[in-house]
Amino acid sequence: MNAQAAPNFTWIPTVAAIAREAGARLREFLAQGVETEYKGDVDVVTVADRTVEKLIRTRLHEALPDHGIFAEEGTRDRLEGEFRWYVDPLDGTTNFAHGFPQFCVSMGLEHRPPGLGPDEDGSLVAGVIYDPTRDELFAAEQGKGAWLNDKPIHVSRTPDLAESLIATGFPSRKRHHSPNVHFYQEFTLRSHGVRRAGSAALDLAWTACGRLEAFWEFNLNSWDTAAGMVLVTEAGGRVTDFAGNPCALESREVLASNGLVHGEMVSLFQDMFAGRNLAPIPTPEEFAARRAARSQI
Ligand code: IPD
Ligand code: CA
Ligand code: CA
Repeated sequence: MNAQAAPNFTWIPTVAAIAREAGARLREFLAQGVETEYKGDVDVVTVADRTVEKLIRTRLHEALPDHGIFAEEGTRDRLEGEFRWYVDPLDGTTNFAHGFPQFCVSMGLEHRPPGLGPDEDGSLVAGVIYDPTRDELFAAEQGKGAWLNDKPIHVSRTPDLAESLIATGFPSRKRHHSPNVHFYQEFTLRSHGVRRAGSAALDLAWTACGRLEAFWEFNLNSWDTAAGMVLVTEAGGRVTDFAGNPCALESREVLASNGLVHGEMVSLFQDMFAGRNLAPIPTPEEFAARRAARSQI
């Protein structure tokens, strides 16, 4: 039972309706099947990404005509205004193209007070992430908490990394340049496990609601993270770069957590960047010898 009344949100009612309509469109595309095109060697895009971006653009213009839009598939509208939506119409395109049900619509709102330089960040004030396959709508506004459908959500209370389930992601573009597989190994060895489910926005939403203790990724874009950063912060968690410093929208590093495991994760990042405390990788011979020794017990 939800004892807490939903807060008096400013933008969420309007934008939640848009995200739900966009999600319904994604469900239809999923049911009918879509062709996949390539943006890079393994970076895919579908007609669903483009159609749903167009739908969100039209609806946002109708409902909030002064607001700007910066979206993954190319929309750059009214970026000189005081409010700007970062939109990923389909986060988890690769999953979607394979029928793997882990994808969402993500919309995060930045307030940019007059006088802010083009390269300066404003403040993130609202976020909506809609998962159409589970009908789960995650929403938050600055100072008003975070919600999943009609219930308030909070990050988990797990105090240490050893008891944590965490998540990460890998880029599809320039994947050969990503060092993340090394971090994946170290965090896997020190936690209950690292999931790589393929939607950064949902990873952030799931950190906000306590299904995950933490999430990190290199080289995400503002449309992947803006909404999730508001959700995690409003759910009582922390979002920084890998050194524990405030995370800018264009930051190439995102670490979000329940706050309690944050320090441990930052230390591990520091150790790893300095080449300390890394688990040695056994050679196939060492591994076989260990297995043989265990089978004799
Ligand atoms: C991708 C997903 C994935 C992450 C990639 C993103 P897209 O977004 O969020 O989880 O690992 O870095 O690019 O391309 O499906 O919108
Ligand atoms: Ca994305
Ligand atoms: Ca996308």
